[in-house]
Amino acid sequence: MDMRSVKVFFQLLLLTSFLLFGCNIDHQNEEAKTLDYEQIYKEKWCDALYLRKHSFANINEVKTVHLALDLTVDFDKEVIHGVANHSIQILHPTDFMLFDTRGLIIDKVFLDNDTVAVDFELGRSYPTVGGFLKIPITPKTNNVTIHYQTTENSKALDWLKPNDKNGLDKPFVYSQGQPILTRTWIPIQDDPSQRITYSAKLQVPKDMLPLMSATNPQRKNDTGVYYFEMNQAIPPYLIAIAVGDLAFRSLDEISGVYALPNMVEIARDEFQDIPKMIVAAQELYGEYLWERFDVLVLPASFPFGGMENPRLTFATPTLIAGDRSLVSVIAHELAHSWSGNLVTNATWEDIWLNEGFTVYFENRIMEKLYGKEIADMLFLVEYQELIETIEKFKSQGQYADTHLKLDLTCRDPDEGLTDIAYVKGGLMLKTLEEAIGRQRLDAFLKGYFAEFAFQTLTTEQFLDYFYEHVDVSNSEFVIEKWIYEPGIPEGAAEISSDRFDAVIALANKIQKGEKLPKDLTRRDKITQKWLAFIRALQPDIDPTTIEAIEEQLQFAKSGNAEIMTEWFVLAINANFDGFRDEIASFLTKIGRRKFLRPMYSALRNNPEMADWGVEIFQKARAGYHPLSAYSIAQLLEIVD
Ligand code: BES
Ligand code: ZN
Repeated sequence: MDMRSVKVFFQLLLLTSFLLFGCNIDHQNEEAKTLDYEQIYKEKWCDALYLRKHSFANINEVKTVHLALDLTVDFDKEVIHGVANHSIQILHPTDFMLFDTRGLIIDKVFLDNDTVAVDFELGRSYPTVGGFLKIPITPKTNNVTIHYQTTENSKALDWLKPNDKNGLDKPFVYSQGQPILTRTWIPIQDDPSQRITYSAKLQVPKDMLPLMSATNPQRKNDTGVYYFEMNQAIPPYLIAIAVGDLAFRSLDEISGVYALPNMVEIARDEFQDIPKMIVAAQELYGEYLWERFDVLVLPASFPFGGMENPRLTFATPTLIAGDRSLVSVIAHELAHSWSGNLVTNATWEDIWLNEGFTVYFENRIMEKLYGKEIADMLFLVEYQELIETIEKFKSQGQYADTHLKLDLTCRDPDEGLTDIAYVKGGLMLKTLEEAIGRQRLDAFLKGYFAEFAFQTLTTEQFLDYFYEHVDVSNSEFVIEKWIYEPGIPEGAAEISSDRFDAVIALANKIQKGEKLPKDLTRRDKITQKWLAFIRALQPDIDPTTIEAIEEQLQFAKSGNAEIMTEWFVLAINANFDGFRDEIASFLTKIGRRKFLRPMYSALRNNPEMADWGVEIFQKARAGYHPLSAYSIAQLLEIVD
C-alpha cells in the first residue's frame, strides 16, 4: 500500500468504527456514566479530557501493571508491527478500559486467552493528545492484547534512511516518548502518574542491533530476535527503542556506550568519566537502582541533548566535542535516575520536580568531579538564560508561566519545558542550600528520594513532605513564593565567576573596537566561558570585528555546537553575511531543538535573512525528528 492508501484506509477505519460503535454509549451501565463519558466527544481536546489533563486513560478504575510487547521493525515500510499485551489491575468496577493512542492503526483486540476478538472503539483523534481506545472488559479480565501498527503519524519515531547528510550507512529508527509521544508508537495509558514494568520481544533485520530502556544486548545475534526486560516500574514516557547498526564499548562493569561503529571509540573517550559520575551521584543521594547506566549516541537528528531513558540514556552526537567539554549533559541524565525516574512528576504541571531537581543534582555531580569553579560557570550560563526567559514571558503577558507549578490546561505539555522548570527549579534548591546548609539539604534530598522511590508525586505532595522535614524558620526562604509566584524571589542565591567577569569585560572592550589580545586562544576548553564571551557581544558589532574574532578563535569551525549556535546567532543578529554556508550546513545536519530554535528565530527576526531561513528549513526538515520539525514550523509560522 502506498502512503495515500494507508491514509484512506485509516480514515475508513475511523469512520467504520464510529458507525459501528459510536452509538453504543447509551448502553453503558451506571458506573460508567459516572465518568461523564460524553465528555470525550467534545470539539476541542481540552474539553474532551475529563480525568487527567493530557490523557484519556481511566487509570482510577483500571490500569496496566505490566506490558509485554512483541514488535517487528520493518525498515522498508517504516512501520513497527506490534502486539501490546497489557496485564491489568481493576481498582474500581468498570466495564471498559481507556488507552491513549495517536497515529496508530488498531487491528484487533483480544481479552485474556480468547480467540475471538472484541469490539473496540476508537475516539476521534485530536491534535496534541490523540484519542482514546476504548476496550470493553469484565470484572474477570486479566489481560488486554492489542494488535496494532505505527503509521507516518507516529510522531515519537524518527525513521532515518542512509544519506550524505546524516552519514548513515544503514537505516536507523529511534523513539522519543517524553512528554506524551509514547502513545504514538504503543497504545498505552500514557500518563506520568502511571508506573508499569515491561518486557519485549523484538524482531529486526539481522544486521541491526535493537536497544530499549531495559536489559540490553551488547552485540548482534544471528536470528534478529531479541528479548528485553524492565523489571522496575517506570512511567510510560520512559519506554524507548532504538534500532540501527550499533556497536558497544564498555566503560566499567555497569556502564558503557553504544554508537555507530565509526563513532563508538570516540564516544567512549569523550564519556570516559561516566563511572566517576555514577560514584559521585551515589555518594550524594543514595544507591543507583537501575543496575546499568549505558549511553546511546544517536544520529544528529535527535531532538534533545539527552533523554534519561532508564538504563540507556539517549544522547545527541553534538556532545562529542572532542574535548569532554559538554559532558554535563550526561551528568544531567544520570541525575534523572533519581529525580525523574525514581521520583516522578505526577502531572506535566509538576515537571519542575523532575527537571529543577536534576539541574541542581547535575551541578553537584559536576562540582564533585571538576570543582566549584566549573560548576558555577555552568550554572551561570543557565542563569543568564533564565533571566532572558523570565523577561520574555513577562513582556508577552505570560508571567504566570514563570511559576514553578504550571497551568497546562488545554496546552501541549511541551510548553512546560522551559528554563523555568529547569533553572528556576535548580536555583530554588541552591537558595534552600544557602538557607539551611548543604548538609541538611543533602540529608533531606536523600531521604526524599528514598521515601518516594518508584512513585509519582505532585508539587503539593512534595510540599507536604517538605513542611514535615525542613525547618526554614531561621531564614528568609519561603518556598511558596518560588512555586506559586512569578519571577525570582528576593534573596535568591547569587552565583558569580571571576573568569566570567574577565571574559565579559574583554568582550565589552572588543565590542568598542579594541584589538583582540594576541595571546587569546581557546585552549582552555571551557565552553561556558566562551558562551559568556559571545553573549556579551552586541548585534551592532562591526563585521570586521566578527572576522577578526573568527580568525583568531575559530568559533564557526570549532565543532562545538553550543559555541557555534551562540556565534551564528550573533552573526545573524549583526546581519553578518560571512557564515551563510556554515549556518546552512549546521542547520541541515543537526536536529537538536535547543540549537535550532535560537538560530531559526534569529533568522526569522532578520528581514534580510528570513526567507533564506524558511528555505533552509524546507530543505532540512525531512532530516529532523517530528518534534523539532513541528516546533520550528510553528516558530516560522509555516502551516502544514
Ligand atoms: N528529560 C529531558 C528532555 C525532555 C524533557 C524531553 C521534557 C521532553 C520533555 C532531558 O533530561 C533534558 O533535560 N535534556 C536537556 C539537557 C539538559 C542538560 C538541560 C536537553 O536536551 O537540552
Ligand atoms: Zn532533564
